[in-house]
Amino acid sequence: MRPRVKIKDLEVSKIALGTWALGGGRDWGAADDNNGAAAILKAVELGINFIDTAPIYGNFHSETLLGKTLKNIRSKIVLATKCGLLAGPRAVRRDLSPQSVREELEGSLRRLKTDYIDFYIIHWPDKNIPLSQTLGEMLRLKEAGKIRHIGVSNFDNTLLKEAVKFADIAVVQNEYSYLRRSAGEEVFETARKHNIAFLAYGPLAGGILSGKYKKEPNLPNNDARNFFYKCYRGEAFKSALDIASKFERIAVSRGVSAAQVAINWVLANQYVSCAVCGARNPPQVEDIASALSWRLNASEQNFLTENK
Ligand SMILES: NC(=O)c1ccc[n+]([C@@H]2O[C@H](COP(=O)([O-])OP(=O)(O)OC[C@H]3O[C@@H](n4cnc5c(N)ncnc54)[C@H](OP(=O)(O)O)[C@@H]3O)[C@@H](O)[C@H]2O)c1
Repeated sequence: MRPRVKIKDLEVSKIALGTWALGGGRDWGAADDNNGAAAILKAVELGINFIDTAPIYGNFHSETLLGKTLKNIRSKIVLATKCGLLAGPRAVRRDLSPQSVREELEGSLRRLKTDYIDFYIIHWPDKNIPLSQTLGEMLRLKEAGKIRHIGVSNFDNTLLKEAVKFADIAVVQNEYSYLRRSAGEEVFETARKHNIAFLAYGPLAGGILSGKYKKEPNLPNNDARNFFYKCYRGEAFKSALDIASKFERIAVSRGVSAAQVAINWVLANQYVSCAVCGARNPPQVEDIASALSWRLNASEQNFLTENK
């Protein structure tokens, strides 16, 4: 059995499969659904029972693919999906109004072919809607049995402290990797104090920390690796490569991959419950799942701390 962690009443793998890239579309380029479905099933086969998605990933495509792929094994999976980001004609817009949240959930349930979501997560804050209203609606959805637990994402410490006044928050999903940690540090203590599991997303900063890029990839401006991770060009690219080469040093001496080192560094943080790792195909899933079979030792951790 692979390492698991308890979040409320649910036992989940310490690695969750992230499915943003599996949605394909503008953010990550075309998705190969056969590979995507095979990646999802490989994850389940290897003991990854926690899967993260959102309606916005591939403009509903990620959820649709998951619904088809998991339809006979839904009950074995812990599913997280999100609300509050909607694709507009030109740009993505935020809407956390109760009506929109309610409608979004119905769409997610339909696409995911299920009648409940295990973790229903606010994707990004919406400054136009009081948090009390959004969380009030989520509490009603929880009472109705349509969601099991409430989560938030991309919340800073101030917002997280605000959120716990209105609802029992089960998870906070923020970005956290060796390269990009700002969204994590400040919320760790608040999360611990309120028994909120910290889900670290983007442990490879979109793939670059696996060490796979030896020169700048030629990605469009509207690819997630440019507009979101922002470390695939110029000085930021060089810094990321530098970190990847440190991971590679450890990886070579251990006979593992640099991606596994990057994920293990995230999981070594005592505040982190799960690393939400994206993967596009079965070999990538096999690699990230293997990160759970070993741990960084103290001298490797010191090496990474001292050479930050
Ligand atoms: N709440 C939020 O706002 C938010 C934001 C971002 C992400 N997330 C969640 O977190 C998940 C993870 O983040 P992410 O997918 O953006 O980035 P990530 O996990 O840092 O990187 C994933 C990408 O790295 C590459 N990769 C994966 N395994 C690899 C391996 N073993 N060797 C080499 N390359 C490998 C793949 O891309 P290539 O094959 O194309 O290189 C994959 O799509 C998302 O899928 C999503 O579920 C949430």
